[in-house]
Amino acid sequence: MTFELADQRVVVTAGGSGIGRAIVERFAGAGAQVWTCDIDAAALGEVTRAEGIDGVVADVGSTASVDSFMTAALSALGGIDVLVNNAGIAGPGGGVETVDPEDVTRTLDVDVTSMFRTSRHAVPVMKAQGSGSIVNISSTAGLHGFPNRSPYAAAKWAVIGLTKTMAMELGEYGIRVNAICPGSINGPRMEHVIALEAEASGRAIEDVRAGMHAQASMRTFVDAEEIAQTIAFLASPLAARISGQALSIDGHTETLRS
Ligand SMILES: NC(=O)c1ccc[n+]([C@@H]2O[C@H](COP(=O)([O-])OP(=O)(O)OC[C@H]3O[C@@H](n4cnc5c(N)ncnc54)[C@H](O)[C@@H]3O)[C@@H](O)[C@H]2O)c1
Repeated sequence: MTFELADQRVVVTAGGSGIGRAIVERFAGAGAQVWTCDIDAAALGEVTRAEGIDGVVADVGSTASVDSFMTAALSALGGIDVLVNNAGIAGPGGGVETVDPEDVTRTLDVDVTSMFRTSRHAVPVMKAQGSGSIVNISSTAGLHGFPNRSPYAAAKWAVIGLTKTMAMELGEYGIRVNAICPGSINGPRMEHVIALEAEASGRAIEDVRAGMHAQASMRTFVDAEEIAQTIAFLASPLAARISGQALSIDGHTETLRS
């Protein structure tokens, strides 16, 4: 068995930037045919310039929008070997008693219900093929409590429950379903979070960064490419018997309390 990904038909949500873009580029770089969507037309335009990557603007929080996206993707690809449900938003911050229920609903809609929206298109095709790999992006917040981020934590725990249930429903059809739990990802977004936290607390930026690194036993953040690499492995024949798992790629997070 090999790590062969060439000619795989791959659908990734929110591939315009961040982890999604790294996933899309990892698969396309290995010769896969990739379809993606993003709510940001400019970001989508950047990523679909590359060979082997196509896509449409879509909001995964809208059933009609995902219906159009998945119909176009499945028709263009002529089937689907890999579905990566990557899209997710951070949701509101603050104590549980301060959170607006409308913001909770939107967080669950984009982070969890979106996975039902894509899966109802992908699963019948994968069942007919007798094969497929679905990867749902959770977070270390799906394995730990996360103070002042309760809607996000609730959504990411839900993703793991959904993943384990899908794996049980779909295993007999040769479809594997796994969740990935990324830790904090290196890049501008995390630097912005660190700067905001430093400003709010009056601490030095280096202090805040060290405190966040200390949440993981390996004292590190993670690169988006490391997430993409594990998803490529899960899609490959090397992972043929891996299903129903929630796999952390996070340098071993011990706590999300900072
Ligand atoms: N970045 C991290 O540190 C981190 C850590 C753990 C888990 N995650 C999870 O990984 C996934 C990707 O995170 P990221 O940090 O790369 O995201 P991001 O915030 O960088 O956004 C990636 C893309 O998602 C698109 N997007 C946002 N809302 C959308 C919607 N409703 N429909 C379609 N596209 C939409 C954005 O336009 C953007 O191009 C999410 O599920 C996130 O919760 C991220």
